[in-house]
Amino acid sequence: MIEDNTKPPSPLRILSTSSESQARRAVVTTRHGTIQTPVFMPVGTQATVKAITPDNLKDIGAEVILGNTYHLFVRPGHRLIEQFGGLHGFMNWDRSILTDSGGFQIFSLKDLATITEEGAAFRSHLDGSRLFLSPEDAVAVQEALGSDIMMCLDTCIPYPADRAETVAATALTGRWARRCRAAQSRPDRLLFGIVQGGMFADLRRQSADTMVEIGFDGYAIGGLSVGEEKATMYEMTEVTTDCLPFDYPRYLMGVGTPEDLVEGVWRGVDMFDCVMPTRNARNGTLFTSTGKLILKNARYRDDPLPVDETCTCYTCRHYSRAYLRHLFVSREILAYHLNTIHNIHYYVNLMRRIREAIVDDRLAAFRNDFYGRLAAE
Ligand code: GUN
Ligand code: ZN
Repeated sequence: MIEDNTKPPSPLRILSTSSESQARRAVVTTRHGTIQTPVFMPVGTQATVKAITPDNLKDIGAEVILGNTYHLFVRPGHRLIEQFGGLHGFMNWDRSILTDSGGFQIFSLKDLATITEEGAAFRSHLDGSRLFLSPEDAVAVQEALGSDIMMCLDTCIPYPADRAETVAATALTGRWARRCRAAQSRPDRLLFGIVQGGMFADLRRQSADTMVEIGFDGYAIGGLSVGEEKATMYEMTEVTTDCLPFDYPRYLMGVGTPEDLVEGVWRGVDMFDCVMPTRNARNGTLFTSTGKLILKNARYRDDPLPVDETCTCYTCRHYSRAYLRHLFVSREILAYHLNTIHNIHYYVNLMRRIREAIVDDRLAAFRNDFYGRLAAE
């Protein structure tokens, strides 16, 4: 029997653990530097975090952003981006980039996509042209994009889904994950497996076991926040983190609200991404330590206070609620910029405070205080 040397060394270094929960304070290292975890990753689907610059992101303290294989494959194409030095050169971001594989986006095209053993056939949402993405293609595209953390092509399971459908989709995700691992040609990049299994605890465990057996640089939890109850999402998260190796990164995909981040960290998650802070910013909904602030509300018409008196972001240091409300109701472009800076700052700063609480081993008190402030409003 030859020694099993397929298990890659972990990019995660754990610095502190929580005695009260599964939370860990750690550092993930990529070829573009280090990422302090638990971390929130702002979403930059189209090679831009909408309405803000890479300099804004650095000022806020973001160490990693997300890109999207599906969108960039359809437009402008990964070969073009490759000519510009990958996503890093193309968009002028020199810190880490994680790319989603395209699985989730292709599935959300519904009628436009057909899934076979070989891969996903779909029509471009832009011009209807026929495209195809196999697990091997998904890795090749992400390598061309220069992604630091690549995701396996997975199948997303609709909610609700019956057991038979969930078994079949989860098994296919496992076979695709094996093909993704075999297709990786750049060992300097990290590749994460994605655990599926729908809302069935035993299928989640099976899927986690399959991913761990293949051996990835990190493990994502997919298929959550798709319409299920919060309690179910938290239970599925915990069932999955319980089966994953302690010393590898864990990433909860597409989640979530500030509360979801606190609950995810509590259950042992290291990484999160969500469009919520950026999308809400553009809809005029701002996150504060006491809850959401809806800018269009008439009560802010002449309000001289900053969005959040405890916030140190550029927007809160310089502008009143009255001014931001005026920009928003006037549909001024600057509204999107200033609102996005605040919301990303809120999420990044929340994670910084969570990391400090883990180091001081006071995450339970932090969590109580966090909910107490939200309830006080
Ligand atoms: N983003 C949110 N959920 C998922 C998922 O299940 N798979 C992928 N690839 N991306 C996601
Ligand atoms: Zn602010």
